[in-house]
Amino acid sequence: MGKPLIIAIDGPAASGKSTVARRVARALNCVFVNSGEMYRAFTWWTLKNDVDPTDTDAVIRLLNDTSFTCGHEELIGFVEVAGQRLSEEELKNDAVNSSVSAIAAIAEVRARLVAEQRAFANESSLVMEGRDIGTVVFPDTPWKFFIDAAPEIRAARRNAEGIGDSIEARDRADSMRKASPLKVADDAMVIDSSHLDIDEVVDIVVNAIRWENESVAS
Ligand code: CDP
Repeated sequence: MGKPLIIAIDGPAASGKSTVARRVARALNCVFVNSGEMYRAFTWWTLKNDVDPTDTDAVIRLLNDTSFTCGHEELIGFVEVAGQRLSEEELKNDAVNSSVSAIAAIAEVRARLVAEQRAFANESSLVMEGRDIGTVVFPDTPWKFFIDAAPEIRAARRNAEGIGDSIEARDRADSMRKASPLKVADDAMVIDSSHLDIDEVVDIVVNAIRWENESVAS
């Protein structure tokens, strides 16, 4: 067994990074973690507690009273907020979609969730996807990928999923925020998925890792 692999996959909304990250993790037998789910879970909890997502002090007070439990089952990461594991519908509902960027812009929220994200690396090889995984969470990993796609293609992909999500507004907020904005790490491999299908993107990532890491079986 070689050193545990940490593979960071970042990119904007609907760039395909979630599907790619999940498939790469399966191909390389690593734990898959969707860090966005953690921001979504805490956003859901904030709304559930009737805390205004733009009231930073109130959000931080709630954060300090909230427990998170993270782990994985059959190589898929999960998060529980205040002891609750949320459904896909709860994590992706319209209210969460429109508030998550405001919550994720709060430095205290990020510090708490980044600590949870780093703890995953103590145990096993992993593929983690998000916005700041290569820049902030695991800046020392050599395996960084940034998956992008043209804005109109991303909007069309999200529409096809039937999700009412203003990805343009979210991307703007995620890129402009002060705390860990969405940006390409200097040493990341950028993949434009506009005209590639999922298999092609997965192959690029997996082959790049196998090429340089002989401990990864093919
Ligand atoms: O699935 P999609 O790409 O649309 O979003 P997501 O990965 O579920 O992330 C939801 C939101 O969480 C993003 O719009 C960011 O505001 C925030 N996020 C973040 O700030 N940092 C991360 N590492 C992951 C997500």
